[in-house]
Amino acid sequence: MRILAIDTSCDETSVAVSENNKILSNVIASQADLHKEWGGVIPSIARRQHEKVIDSVIIRATKLAGINLKQIDVFAVTNGPGLAIALEVGINKIKQLASDYQKPVVAVNHMVGHIYANFALNRNGNPVAFPLEISQQTFPLIALLISGGHTELILMKDHLQFEKIGQTLDDSAGEAFDKIANMLDWGYPGGPIIEKFAQEGDEDRFNFPIPMRHSHDLNFSFSGLKTAVLREIKEIGKSQDSKFEKMKKGDLQSNLVQKNDNRITLSKKETYKLSKRDAHDIAASFQKATLEHLSQKSLRAVSEYQVKYVVLGGGVTNNIYIRSNIRKNLRLKGVKLYYPKTKKLTTDNAGMIAVAAYYYAQKESFVDLDILDRVPRLSL
Ligand code: KG4
Ligand code: ZN
Repeated sequence: MRILAIDTSCDETSVAVSENNKILSNVIASQADLHKEWGGVIPSIARRQHEKVIDSVIIRATKLAGINLKQIDVFAVTNGPGLAIALEVGINKIKQLASDYQKPVVAVNHMVGHIYANFALNRNGNPVAFPLEISQQTFPLIALLISGGHTELILMKDHLQFEKIGQTLDDSAGEAFDKIANMLDWGYPGGPIIEKFAQEGDEDRFNFPIPMRHSHDLNFSFSGLKTAVLREIKEIGKSQDSKFEKMKKGDLQSNLVQKNDNRITLSKKETYKLSKRDAHDIAASFQKATLEHLSQKSLRAVSEYQVKYVVLGGGVTNNIYIRSNIRKNLRLKGVKLYYPKTKKLTTDNAGMIAVAAYYYAQKESFVDLDILDRVPRLSL
């Protein structure tokens, strides 16, 4: 079965072609540079850029896969969650292709895509996450989804059976990274920058509170931790005047501080400049508290549900410190952690949508084009 999938849920225009769950091409046109100066994603800019590049990304993806559109059996598209007007671009394009070529369409939840990135095979037919010997018997498993808009624990007893067992009560993990980086004027997205700064920092210098460490549920919270970090940044400024420089930008430069699905908060931007030492230590201490939180909840989930496998999905999966420490902690409990070995499959991409679509298409779970629409707050 040949599948062409599109994801335009946020700031990446991505098109992939797969043969079943084997990804033949996975083209990602990132808009990150366009949004950088805002410290977050501006939906209208995202939409315009998706519209501008979608056709050329389709051409590149089919060319790389060595097939033409007539050979596609199934079209797939992300219908949510994401930015409404950005999702629309992919959906409209898929509707057009499906009616031109008279082929069925699968609508895929973006978060399902992040989980199914783990079930992908690369061009050579090798699994990207699970080793071959267990690729057939991975259930039940728990997926820890850590992206810019979501932080969730999902229990899967079988393919396409999702039970949400935990979720963030406020900010997502990625959002905390982005907001802190934004406050320090470090750029967007914040995760990779904070990870880099943290490498040379003292993670024990600041004792940031580990969120919800005494709660007995599987939910997350990042807003308190984020506030504690921001408070510390201000404190440092007060006590070390020479290393501190506060820039207050005027009304005209009011800035987007964060995206969360289709919610956007506009606020005046206040940024703080720290000394190198302080910056590294803040980054490392924040990252440590984030790891502890994610790790504690994952450990609680695996013991509560008695699973042997955990998979990761979403952009924060790229954080080597976080994933290797979660892996280590789970291993002590006899649980194995897997995640896609290529970075392309952990951040937003259409390859993961094609893989998920393959499993839906096998069940003939197709969507009627007349009712296919974006669902910005689509939930699992
Ligand atoms: O899954 P994703 O690409 O997009 C969404 O679906 O939201 O995730 C983006 C998020 C951003 O918040 C970004 O800061 C975070 O993933 N991220 C990281 C790293 N790379 C990306 N967070 C921590 N460490 C990283 N290395
Ligand atoms: Zn994502």
